[in-house]
Amino acid sequence: MFKKVLEDYSRDGYAIIPNFFSDQEISELKSECARIVDEFDPKGHRTTNDAVDTKNMILDDYTMSSVDKIHFFFENDVFDSNGNLKVKKSQALNKIAHALHWWSPVFKKFTFSDRVKSLVREAEFVDPKIIQGTYIFKNPRIGGEFFPHQDATYLYTKPEIKVMGLWFALDDANEENGCLSFIPGSHRDGLKKRWYRNPKNSNNMLNEGESPEEWLDEKNYVPATVKKGSCVLIHGLVVHKSGPNKSDKPRGIYAIHLYDQNGCEWSKENMLQPTARLPFQSLY
Ligand code: FE2
Repeated sequence: MFKKVLEDYSRDGYAIIPNFFSDQEISELKSECARIVDEFDPKGHRTTNDAVDTKNMILDDYTMSSVDKIHFFFENDVFDSNGNLKVKKSQALNKIAHALHWWSPVFKKFTFSDRVKSLVREAEFVDPKIIQGTYIFKNPRIGGEFFPHQDATYLYTKPEIKVMGLWFALDDANEENGCLSFIPGSHRDGLKKRWYRNPKNSNNMLNEGESPEEWLDEKNYVPATVKKGSCVLIHGLVVHKSGPNKSDKPRGIYAIHLYDQNGCEWSKENMLQPTARLPFQSLY
């Protein structure tokens, strides 16, 4: 069913499936997201930058403990000096992470749908575990860029990397509103950087490796312009990034990340760790 797509995926490290899900499903996912945001009280919350001591790369407990919960992360510069939001709550969020796939019945139903399962089966994942289910808002004017990276820097498995992201477009994504762009074939060049826990302080993340120069050269990238309802497959090793949203409409997406427990071990040094409350769930 996804033969051609999976050929693209193994050649380029990414692939696009148009019309993977319906307008009806898009509106269900968006309304569920709106409901979750509506119920959430932003008081006392912090921005993405505030949650991290960037100089020493120490993450706060809210971020560290978000793996098994629905937690909210704001864009930077959205609170005034009294801690009040300068723009509407729904316009100020960067993402909801990391366990939307489990605690929201609507996102859960979508994640564990037969279509998603057959895609992952065809991609030859024998025992796929769901690492995270996140909603990324990329709000108009405020949604920032995401620098070039490989997902396996953060989601590391050994002895090999068998990690895949499924990125579901809830809006059309193009160069104006910050679609993904990829360096095709870069998944064959190995992992360049790692981000791992300091064994002496688990809130402290350490970096190893450098971004190669070719990651900074715009002409190496191909934009993945997609229509809403598309699914983008992202190999754990492919280099990708996304631009800021310069349009006046949101560019919402839902994404899940998986690794294959068959033959791969999840690194205990990754920031995201399964918990007693929510072990990584099997997709099937
Ligand atoms: Fe990524």
